[in-house]
Amino acid sequence: MTTDTTTAEAAAVSAPGETVLDARGVTMRFGGLTAVRSVDLTVNSGEIVGLIGPNGAGKTTFFNCLTGLYIPTEGEVRYKGNVLPAKSFKITATGIARTFQNIRLFSNMTVLENVLVGRHTRTKEGLWSALLRGPGFHRAEAESKARAMELLEFVGLDHKAEHLSRNLPYGEQRKLEIARALASEPGLLLLDEPTAGMNPQETRAAEELIFAIRDKGIAVLVIEHDMRFIFNLCDRVACLVQGEKLVEGTAAEVQGDDRVVAAYLGEPFEGDPGAAEVAEVEAAEAAAAAETTEATTPEATAPAAEATTEDAPAAPGESTSKENDR
Ligand SMILES: Nc1ncnc2c1ncn2[C@@H]1O[C@H](COP(=O)(O)OP(=O)(O)OP(=O)(O)O)[C@@H](O)[C@H]1O
Ligand SMILES: [Mg+2]
Repeated sequence: MTTDTTTAEAAAVSAPGETVLDARGVTMRFGGLTAVRSVDLTVNSGEIVGLIGPNGAGKTTFFNCLTGLYIPTEGEVRYKGNVLPAKSFKITATGIARTFQNIRLFSNMTVLENVLVGRHTRTKEGLWSALLRGPGFHRAEAESKARAMELLEFVGLDHKAEHLSRNLPYGEQRKLEIARALASEPGLLLLDEPTAGMNPQETRAAEELIFAIRDKGIAVLVIEHDMRFIFNLCDRVACLVQGEKLVEGTAAEVQGDDRVVAAYLGEPFEGDPGAAEVAEVEAAEAAAAAETTEATTPEATAPAAEATTEDAPAAPGESTSKENDR
């Protein structure tokens, strides 16, 4: 690791319990529509906080208010005690990084190049020097490359560093977006539907990755519709409905809250109709996968069977992830 990198990482890591994000009274209006209404939310260091709510509840708009894409109509956002600047690139430099609900990668660049772009706020040379190959570029480039490779290894994509990002499967594109966000050495990472379109195995791997990010001292705020993922992952969960924060609490508190059930989660259907059929299809798929693997690693059968049990279908209302949101 380079000296440059170490300094940047050390700067991003927060003291335990420190309030990293403090959003107060954030309101965002578009003409007559109030998309976010007077939302307060804090995220402390060492925490993973979830933001849930129905489609159109204002979750992404709230993220946009935290990252300078929108300037809130009212309210204030502080990062580590300082009011955020109004420009998104300045906010990235301050220490907040994000991924997008609709993946935004440079599709004709390689995986490595995408991560290098994410590092431009942390290199003295900046983006223009990288593009123009100016003086001092080569030393900085070697340092940046080493760090970018470290991050690719961290998310499990180092073996695809030279692939074009558009050729990656969907789940890996989401991982690459995370690596690119981490390249700015943030203290707070905002993830907007990081598992949308992922299969259960990829979702579980994403969960592990987010825990690992938290363990590096980076606070995480995550939007997701997959409730199993959210309630497993998050220390605290806030539910937005029609732009307002309806409830905030631990996973158990939010999951059991009548207002959240009524407005978002919904009551499970009596007897969970269709669950048996879904389980049957998943079991057949897992068995087929196990058979394929068996030829090389006979012991693979047991974990595959285990995965089937864990992948039992979500109860109705448990996951409302939008299949087409790509
Ligand atoms: N730039 C904009 N101009 C006008 N209205 C907007 C704009 N951005 C968002 N909205 C509106 O604000 C509301 C909240 O949208 P937002 O995308 O934040 O919801 P969301 O909670 O992220 O939903 P989803 O779960 O579907 O992603 C919606 O009614 C949306 O149409
Ligand atoms: Mg959204």
